[in-house]
Amino acid sequence: MRIMLVGDVVGRPGRKAIRHWLPILIDEHALDFVVVNAENAAAGFGITFGSARELLDAGADCLTTGNHIWSQKSTEDLVEDEPRLLRPANYPPQCAGAGARLYTARCGTNVGVLNLQGRVFMGELDCPFRTADAEIEQLRRQGAQAIVVDFHAEATSEKIAMGRHLDGRVAAVVGTHTHVMTADEQILSRGTAYITDLGMTGPVEDTIIGVQAKEVMTRFLTLMPQRFHVPKRGKSRFGAVIVDYCLDSGRAKHIQRIEKYTAADESNLI
Ligand code: FE2
Repeated sequence: MRIMLVGDVVGRPGRKAIRHWLPILIDEHALDFVVVNAENAAAGFGITFGSARELLDAGADCLTTGNHIWSQKSTEDLVEDEPRLLRPANYPPQCAGAGARLYTARCGTNVGVLNLQGRVFMGELDCPFRTADAEIEQLRRQGAQAIVVDFHAEATSEKIAMGRHLDGRVAAVVGTHTHVMTADEQILSRGTAYITDLGMTGPVEDTIIGVQAKEVMTRFLTLMPQRFHVPKRGKSRFGAVIVDYCLDSGRAKHIQRIEKYTAADESNLI
């Protein structure tokens, strides 16, 4: 089966890139299942009912998130109402929503998706490694035939450690959060597809990882508080990987990076 995992959608330009590229790529690559990290989908911070709908309507089968999960007021209701939206599984169990769920792919396969968040240079959460062990066992018990993991984390070492920890137990471990794609995509020794970061799906023109460059520069140069905005227009990037997974052998066969761009002129977009 063929699964695509898409990197952090940032604001309106990111959502436009999804609306433009997702239907094309689903068709072109005969994708069975699509996971999209949506934690920056609403103006760069969190996710709303409207932005979730836009991504799901474009063809996403599951939306994952990360440290900005609670940035929008409505998200607490949204994660309860929308089973296709996950929050990191290693948040306290009292939190709304779930961090892992089972879905049915277009080919009929039961796909488990697990969303985790790192702890290095990030907030204090439960251990992502022990959480992964428990959630994977649970997904298997529920009948998952293939499991994919979005590890939303800052440190490269923590992400590689997760890849090695889960190698042979899941189809893919992909990193998100840094918004810059790494070129280390590989099949690990026991058959898990891995990449440290998918990079963002969002505006690349005059931005620093999706935020207006001037605002980020001012913050670095003055160390003064600064409001961050995602530009509403400009050239946008789409970043993802496609993983081919063999259900018989339980091994990923191939992982391919996908990078696409949309034109700066908004009128060129759908
Ligand atoms: Fe993040």
